Amino acid sequence: MKDRKQLVVSAIKDGTVIDHIPAKELFRVIDILGLDHIENQITFGTNLDSEKLEKKGIMKLSGVFFKQEDLDRIALVAPDVKVNIIRDYEVVEKKVVEIPERIERIVKCVNPMCITNQEEVRTKFDLVTRHPVSIKCYYCEKITDANSMEIISSG
Ligand code: CTP
Ligand code: ZN
Repeated sequence: MKDRKQLVVSAIKDGTVIDHIPAKELFRVIDILGLDHIENQITFGTNLDSEKLEKKGIMKLSGVFFKQEDLDRIALVAPDVKVNIIRDYEVVEKKVVEIPERIERIVKCVNPMCITNQEEVRTKFDLVTRHPVSIKCYYCEKITDANSMEIISSG
């Protein structure tokens, strides 16, 4: 560690720290990762001051290690998060996230007439642009963009 600044949220021994979450996206990140279903210890901080973002959130998950493809889904709402893997109190790896080429579930299609909004059909999209994000429905081909993006809770 650099200088010994006091940590707002305590360090963890083993697990995953997701840092630089835009404060307003914290709850969508929780939804996307399905964190209401896990029993591990989780600590959060939000509305913390950040140099880069206006206000940031941080999330520390003890004993939880995600697959990269699961982390990548966070990029839909929080493309600039930094993911730190902690083993025995040390940061052993830093990861970034990237919106996947194919997005399944998670996002609701913007088109009310789409089959995914009419029947029990899971949504499926292809990535069109990353910045800003826009994705195309596999079924109705309508474009859902950042402004209209509604996250379906994984619950
Ligand atoms: N962290 C933690 N528990 C540990 C080690 C680190 O919770 N045992 C957290 C730190 O609080 C920090 C993040 O993991 O939020 C990354 O740690 P570190 O790389 O030491 O901090 P920085 O250099 O500030 O990270 P960066 O600038 O890459 O965001
Ligand atoms: Zn559709």
